[in-house]
Amino acid sequence: MSNNKQSIEITHLRDQLNHHSYQYYVLDDPEIPDVEYDRLYRELQSLEKQNPDLITSDSPTQRVGDKPLDGFTQVKHEVPMLSLDNVFNEEELSDFNKRIQQRLDSDDEISFAAEPKLDGLAVSLLYEKGLLVRAGTRGDGTTGENITQNIRTIHSIPLKLLGSNIPELLEVRGEVFMPKAGFEKLNQIARDNDEKQFANPRNAAAGSLRQLDPKITAKRPLAMYCYAVGRVDGGAELETHSDMLDHLKQWGLPLCKERQTVQGVEGCLDYFKQMSGLRDSLSYEIDGIVYKVNSLNLQKELGFVARAPRWAIAHKFPAQEELTRVNAIEFQVGRTGAITPVARLEPVFVGGVTVSNATLHNMDEVNRKDVRVGDQVIIRRAGDVIPEVVRVVPGSRKHGAEKIKLPEKCPVCESEIEQEEGEAIARCSGGLFCGAQRKESIKHFASRKAMDVDGLGDKLVEQLVDEGCIDHMDDLYSLTVEKIIGLERMAEKSATNLIESLGKSKYTSLNRFIYGLGIREVGEATAQTLAQYFTSLDAIKAADEESLQRVEDVGPIVAAHIVRFFKQPHNLEVIEKLLNAGIHWDAIEGVAVEEQTLEGKTFVLTGTLTEMTRDDAKKALQARGAKVTGSVSKKTSYVVVGDNAGSKATKAEQLGVEMLDEAALVKLLE
Ligand code: IVH
Repeated sequence: MSNNKQSIEITHLRDQLNHHSYQYYVLDDPEIPDVEYDRLYRELQSLEKQNPDLITSDSPTQRVGDKPLDGFTQVKHEVPMLSLDNVFNEEELSDFNKRIQQRLDSDDEISFAAEPKLDGLAVSLLYEKGLLVRAGTRGDGTTGENITQNIRTIHSIPLKLLGSNIPELLEVRGEVFMPKAGFEKLNQIARDNDEKQFANPRNAAAGSLRQLDPKITAKRPLAMYCYAVGRVDGGAELETHSDMLDHLKQWGLPLCKERQTVQGVEGCLDYFKQMSGLRDSLSYEIDGIVYKVNSLNLQKELGFVARAPRWAIAHKFPAQEELTRVNAIEFQVGRTGAITPVARLEPVFVGGVTVSNATLHNMDEVNRKDVRVGDQVIIRRAGDVIPEVVRVVPGSRKHGAEKIKLPEKCPVCESEIEQEEGEAIARCSGGLFCGAQRKESIKHFASRKAMDVDGLGDKLVEQLVDEGCIDHMDDLYSLTVEKIIGLERMAEKSATNLIESLGKSKYTSLNRFIYGLGIREVGEATAQTLAQYFTSLDAIKAADEESLQRVEDVGPIVAAHIVRFFKQPHNLEVIEKLLNAGIHWDAIEGVAVEEQTLEGKTFVLTGTLTEMTRDDAKKALQARGAKVTGSVSKKTSYVVVGDNAGSKATKAEQLGVEMLDEAALVKLLE
């Protein structure tokens, strides 16, 4: 065969194989027998061997790379990968629907796209000109790990998109998971070889994607279903989420067959019932249903809160429950000194994991449930949340079992335990004198979503504090190989690695740093909005309660915690030491802060604006110091009325609140 002829033959074989792979893995509808596929595959392999320069990245022979990685590099998600809020019953679902209708100022029944909530890991795939060029984990939503090599080994994921009208750039999102049958088989092999088994399919999928050697991942039975688009450039204009998913399917991407569009809360509940019935017979694990407002325009109008879209919700299946016995009740001290009663249990397998501890939340809960040592109890575990004690089995109490009392002194540092009037939570008053609080704050600082210090796990932090190597988080950066070598299980190699990871962690982002400081009530999402809004640490430090409350999701309590935190000399000292140790981050382009011409004014936006989206209008108002809220009251300064405005405009009229049309708003912003 001439070279040119071979090139044509190679292209033809590649396309044929990719087509059959799609029929087999995505449509579950093979057109040819497996032996025929294998024959074509070998033919391609042999032609490629003769013409190595004709091998392309989308060839099915190139799924498994040959080199293990040294570590994962990072991927930045230009459009953040969000998570979902949960509802657990009909009432909460109906509230979700009401919130949407209120925000849209309409009583119309909403069309939802309903899909199973897959129990795996969120992943983003980037296709450029139809070729898979990058895949990343969700990570903290902004930055994840580059797992392209591993994703390429998953046969249902196309290396090249099929069909026509392929966008110039497409970033799709979905869940990678391990089907139930594959999971059983994998664990059977582990049992046969006396190796450790995976607790559940989700852990197995996570462990498989985290392999540095793609050859191992290739042996794991992974699959993926796509459920969202992060970014798309070029291609047809689409109106609904379900249309978008149909397009993905035409391009050869794997989608869940069980998805449906439904009308209103009723439709959602019908689908939920139907899927609850099917759940056990599905080939993959699900832990609930996701409902998404189907219209992409409405999605845009509804927008996001810090961490999750307003237009989607996860309706979780009821938690799984089991029976076991309480062996002891102990009190744990958290990062902020909160004292949590914890039940130590006779280990029991619930919802895919072995549970030996369950939280009792606080003393009010202990008293209400009246749990005592020796009682038989019902344990509940729902999704990723910490298992909890639901109730005591009546009649199971052992003779003489005593009522549980809150200790007077901290079990760790023996400082007084305090409980403020009306607060459910008791706290150790020891502050950073308390070893538990210090340990917890260092663990938090080093954790994956904060400074992400590789190799610095909880046990090691405890050891470092107990051995007097460190007292506070800033001491981490003065550790040296010499100082830690000789600690338990700490040989030269691991010591060097730890010091290296500490060095690496110094390059971070402002939001991770803020989150890592462990300010009360400032979680990952709030840290991110704070960083985005203020764009510098100095600005956050200097902010007063009023300006902090201009940030989405920051209310008076959170604002007070933040101000209090930055007032404490000890905290400022720790921050300064951390910065002196070389912690740094890239500058952020944040929300523009304009002259504060609208300070003290409260706005409500209603109806459709034509010149800008409601979200843009809101940002522009906030940048000028205004507060934007969702409902009209006497305190509202202005209601901005767009097209088709409904009840909010009427209410404004009744209350005599000044109304602005879009033109007046634009003028005001100028
Ligand atoms: S949509 C902006 N759809 O659930 C919407 N998520 O709790 C983002 N998940 O991180 C997610 N099945 O890993 C969506 N059909 C589905 C899903 C799904 C599972 C996961 C996903 C996400 C998490 C949020």
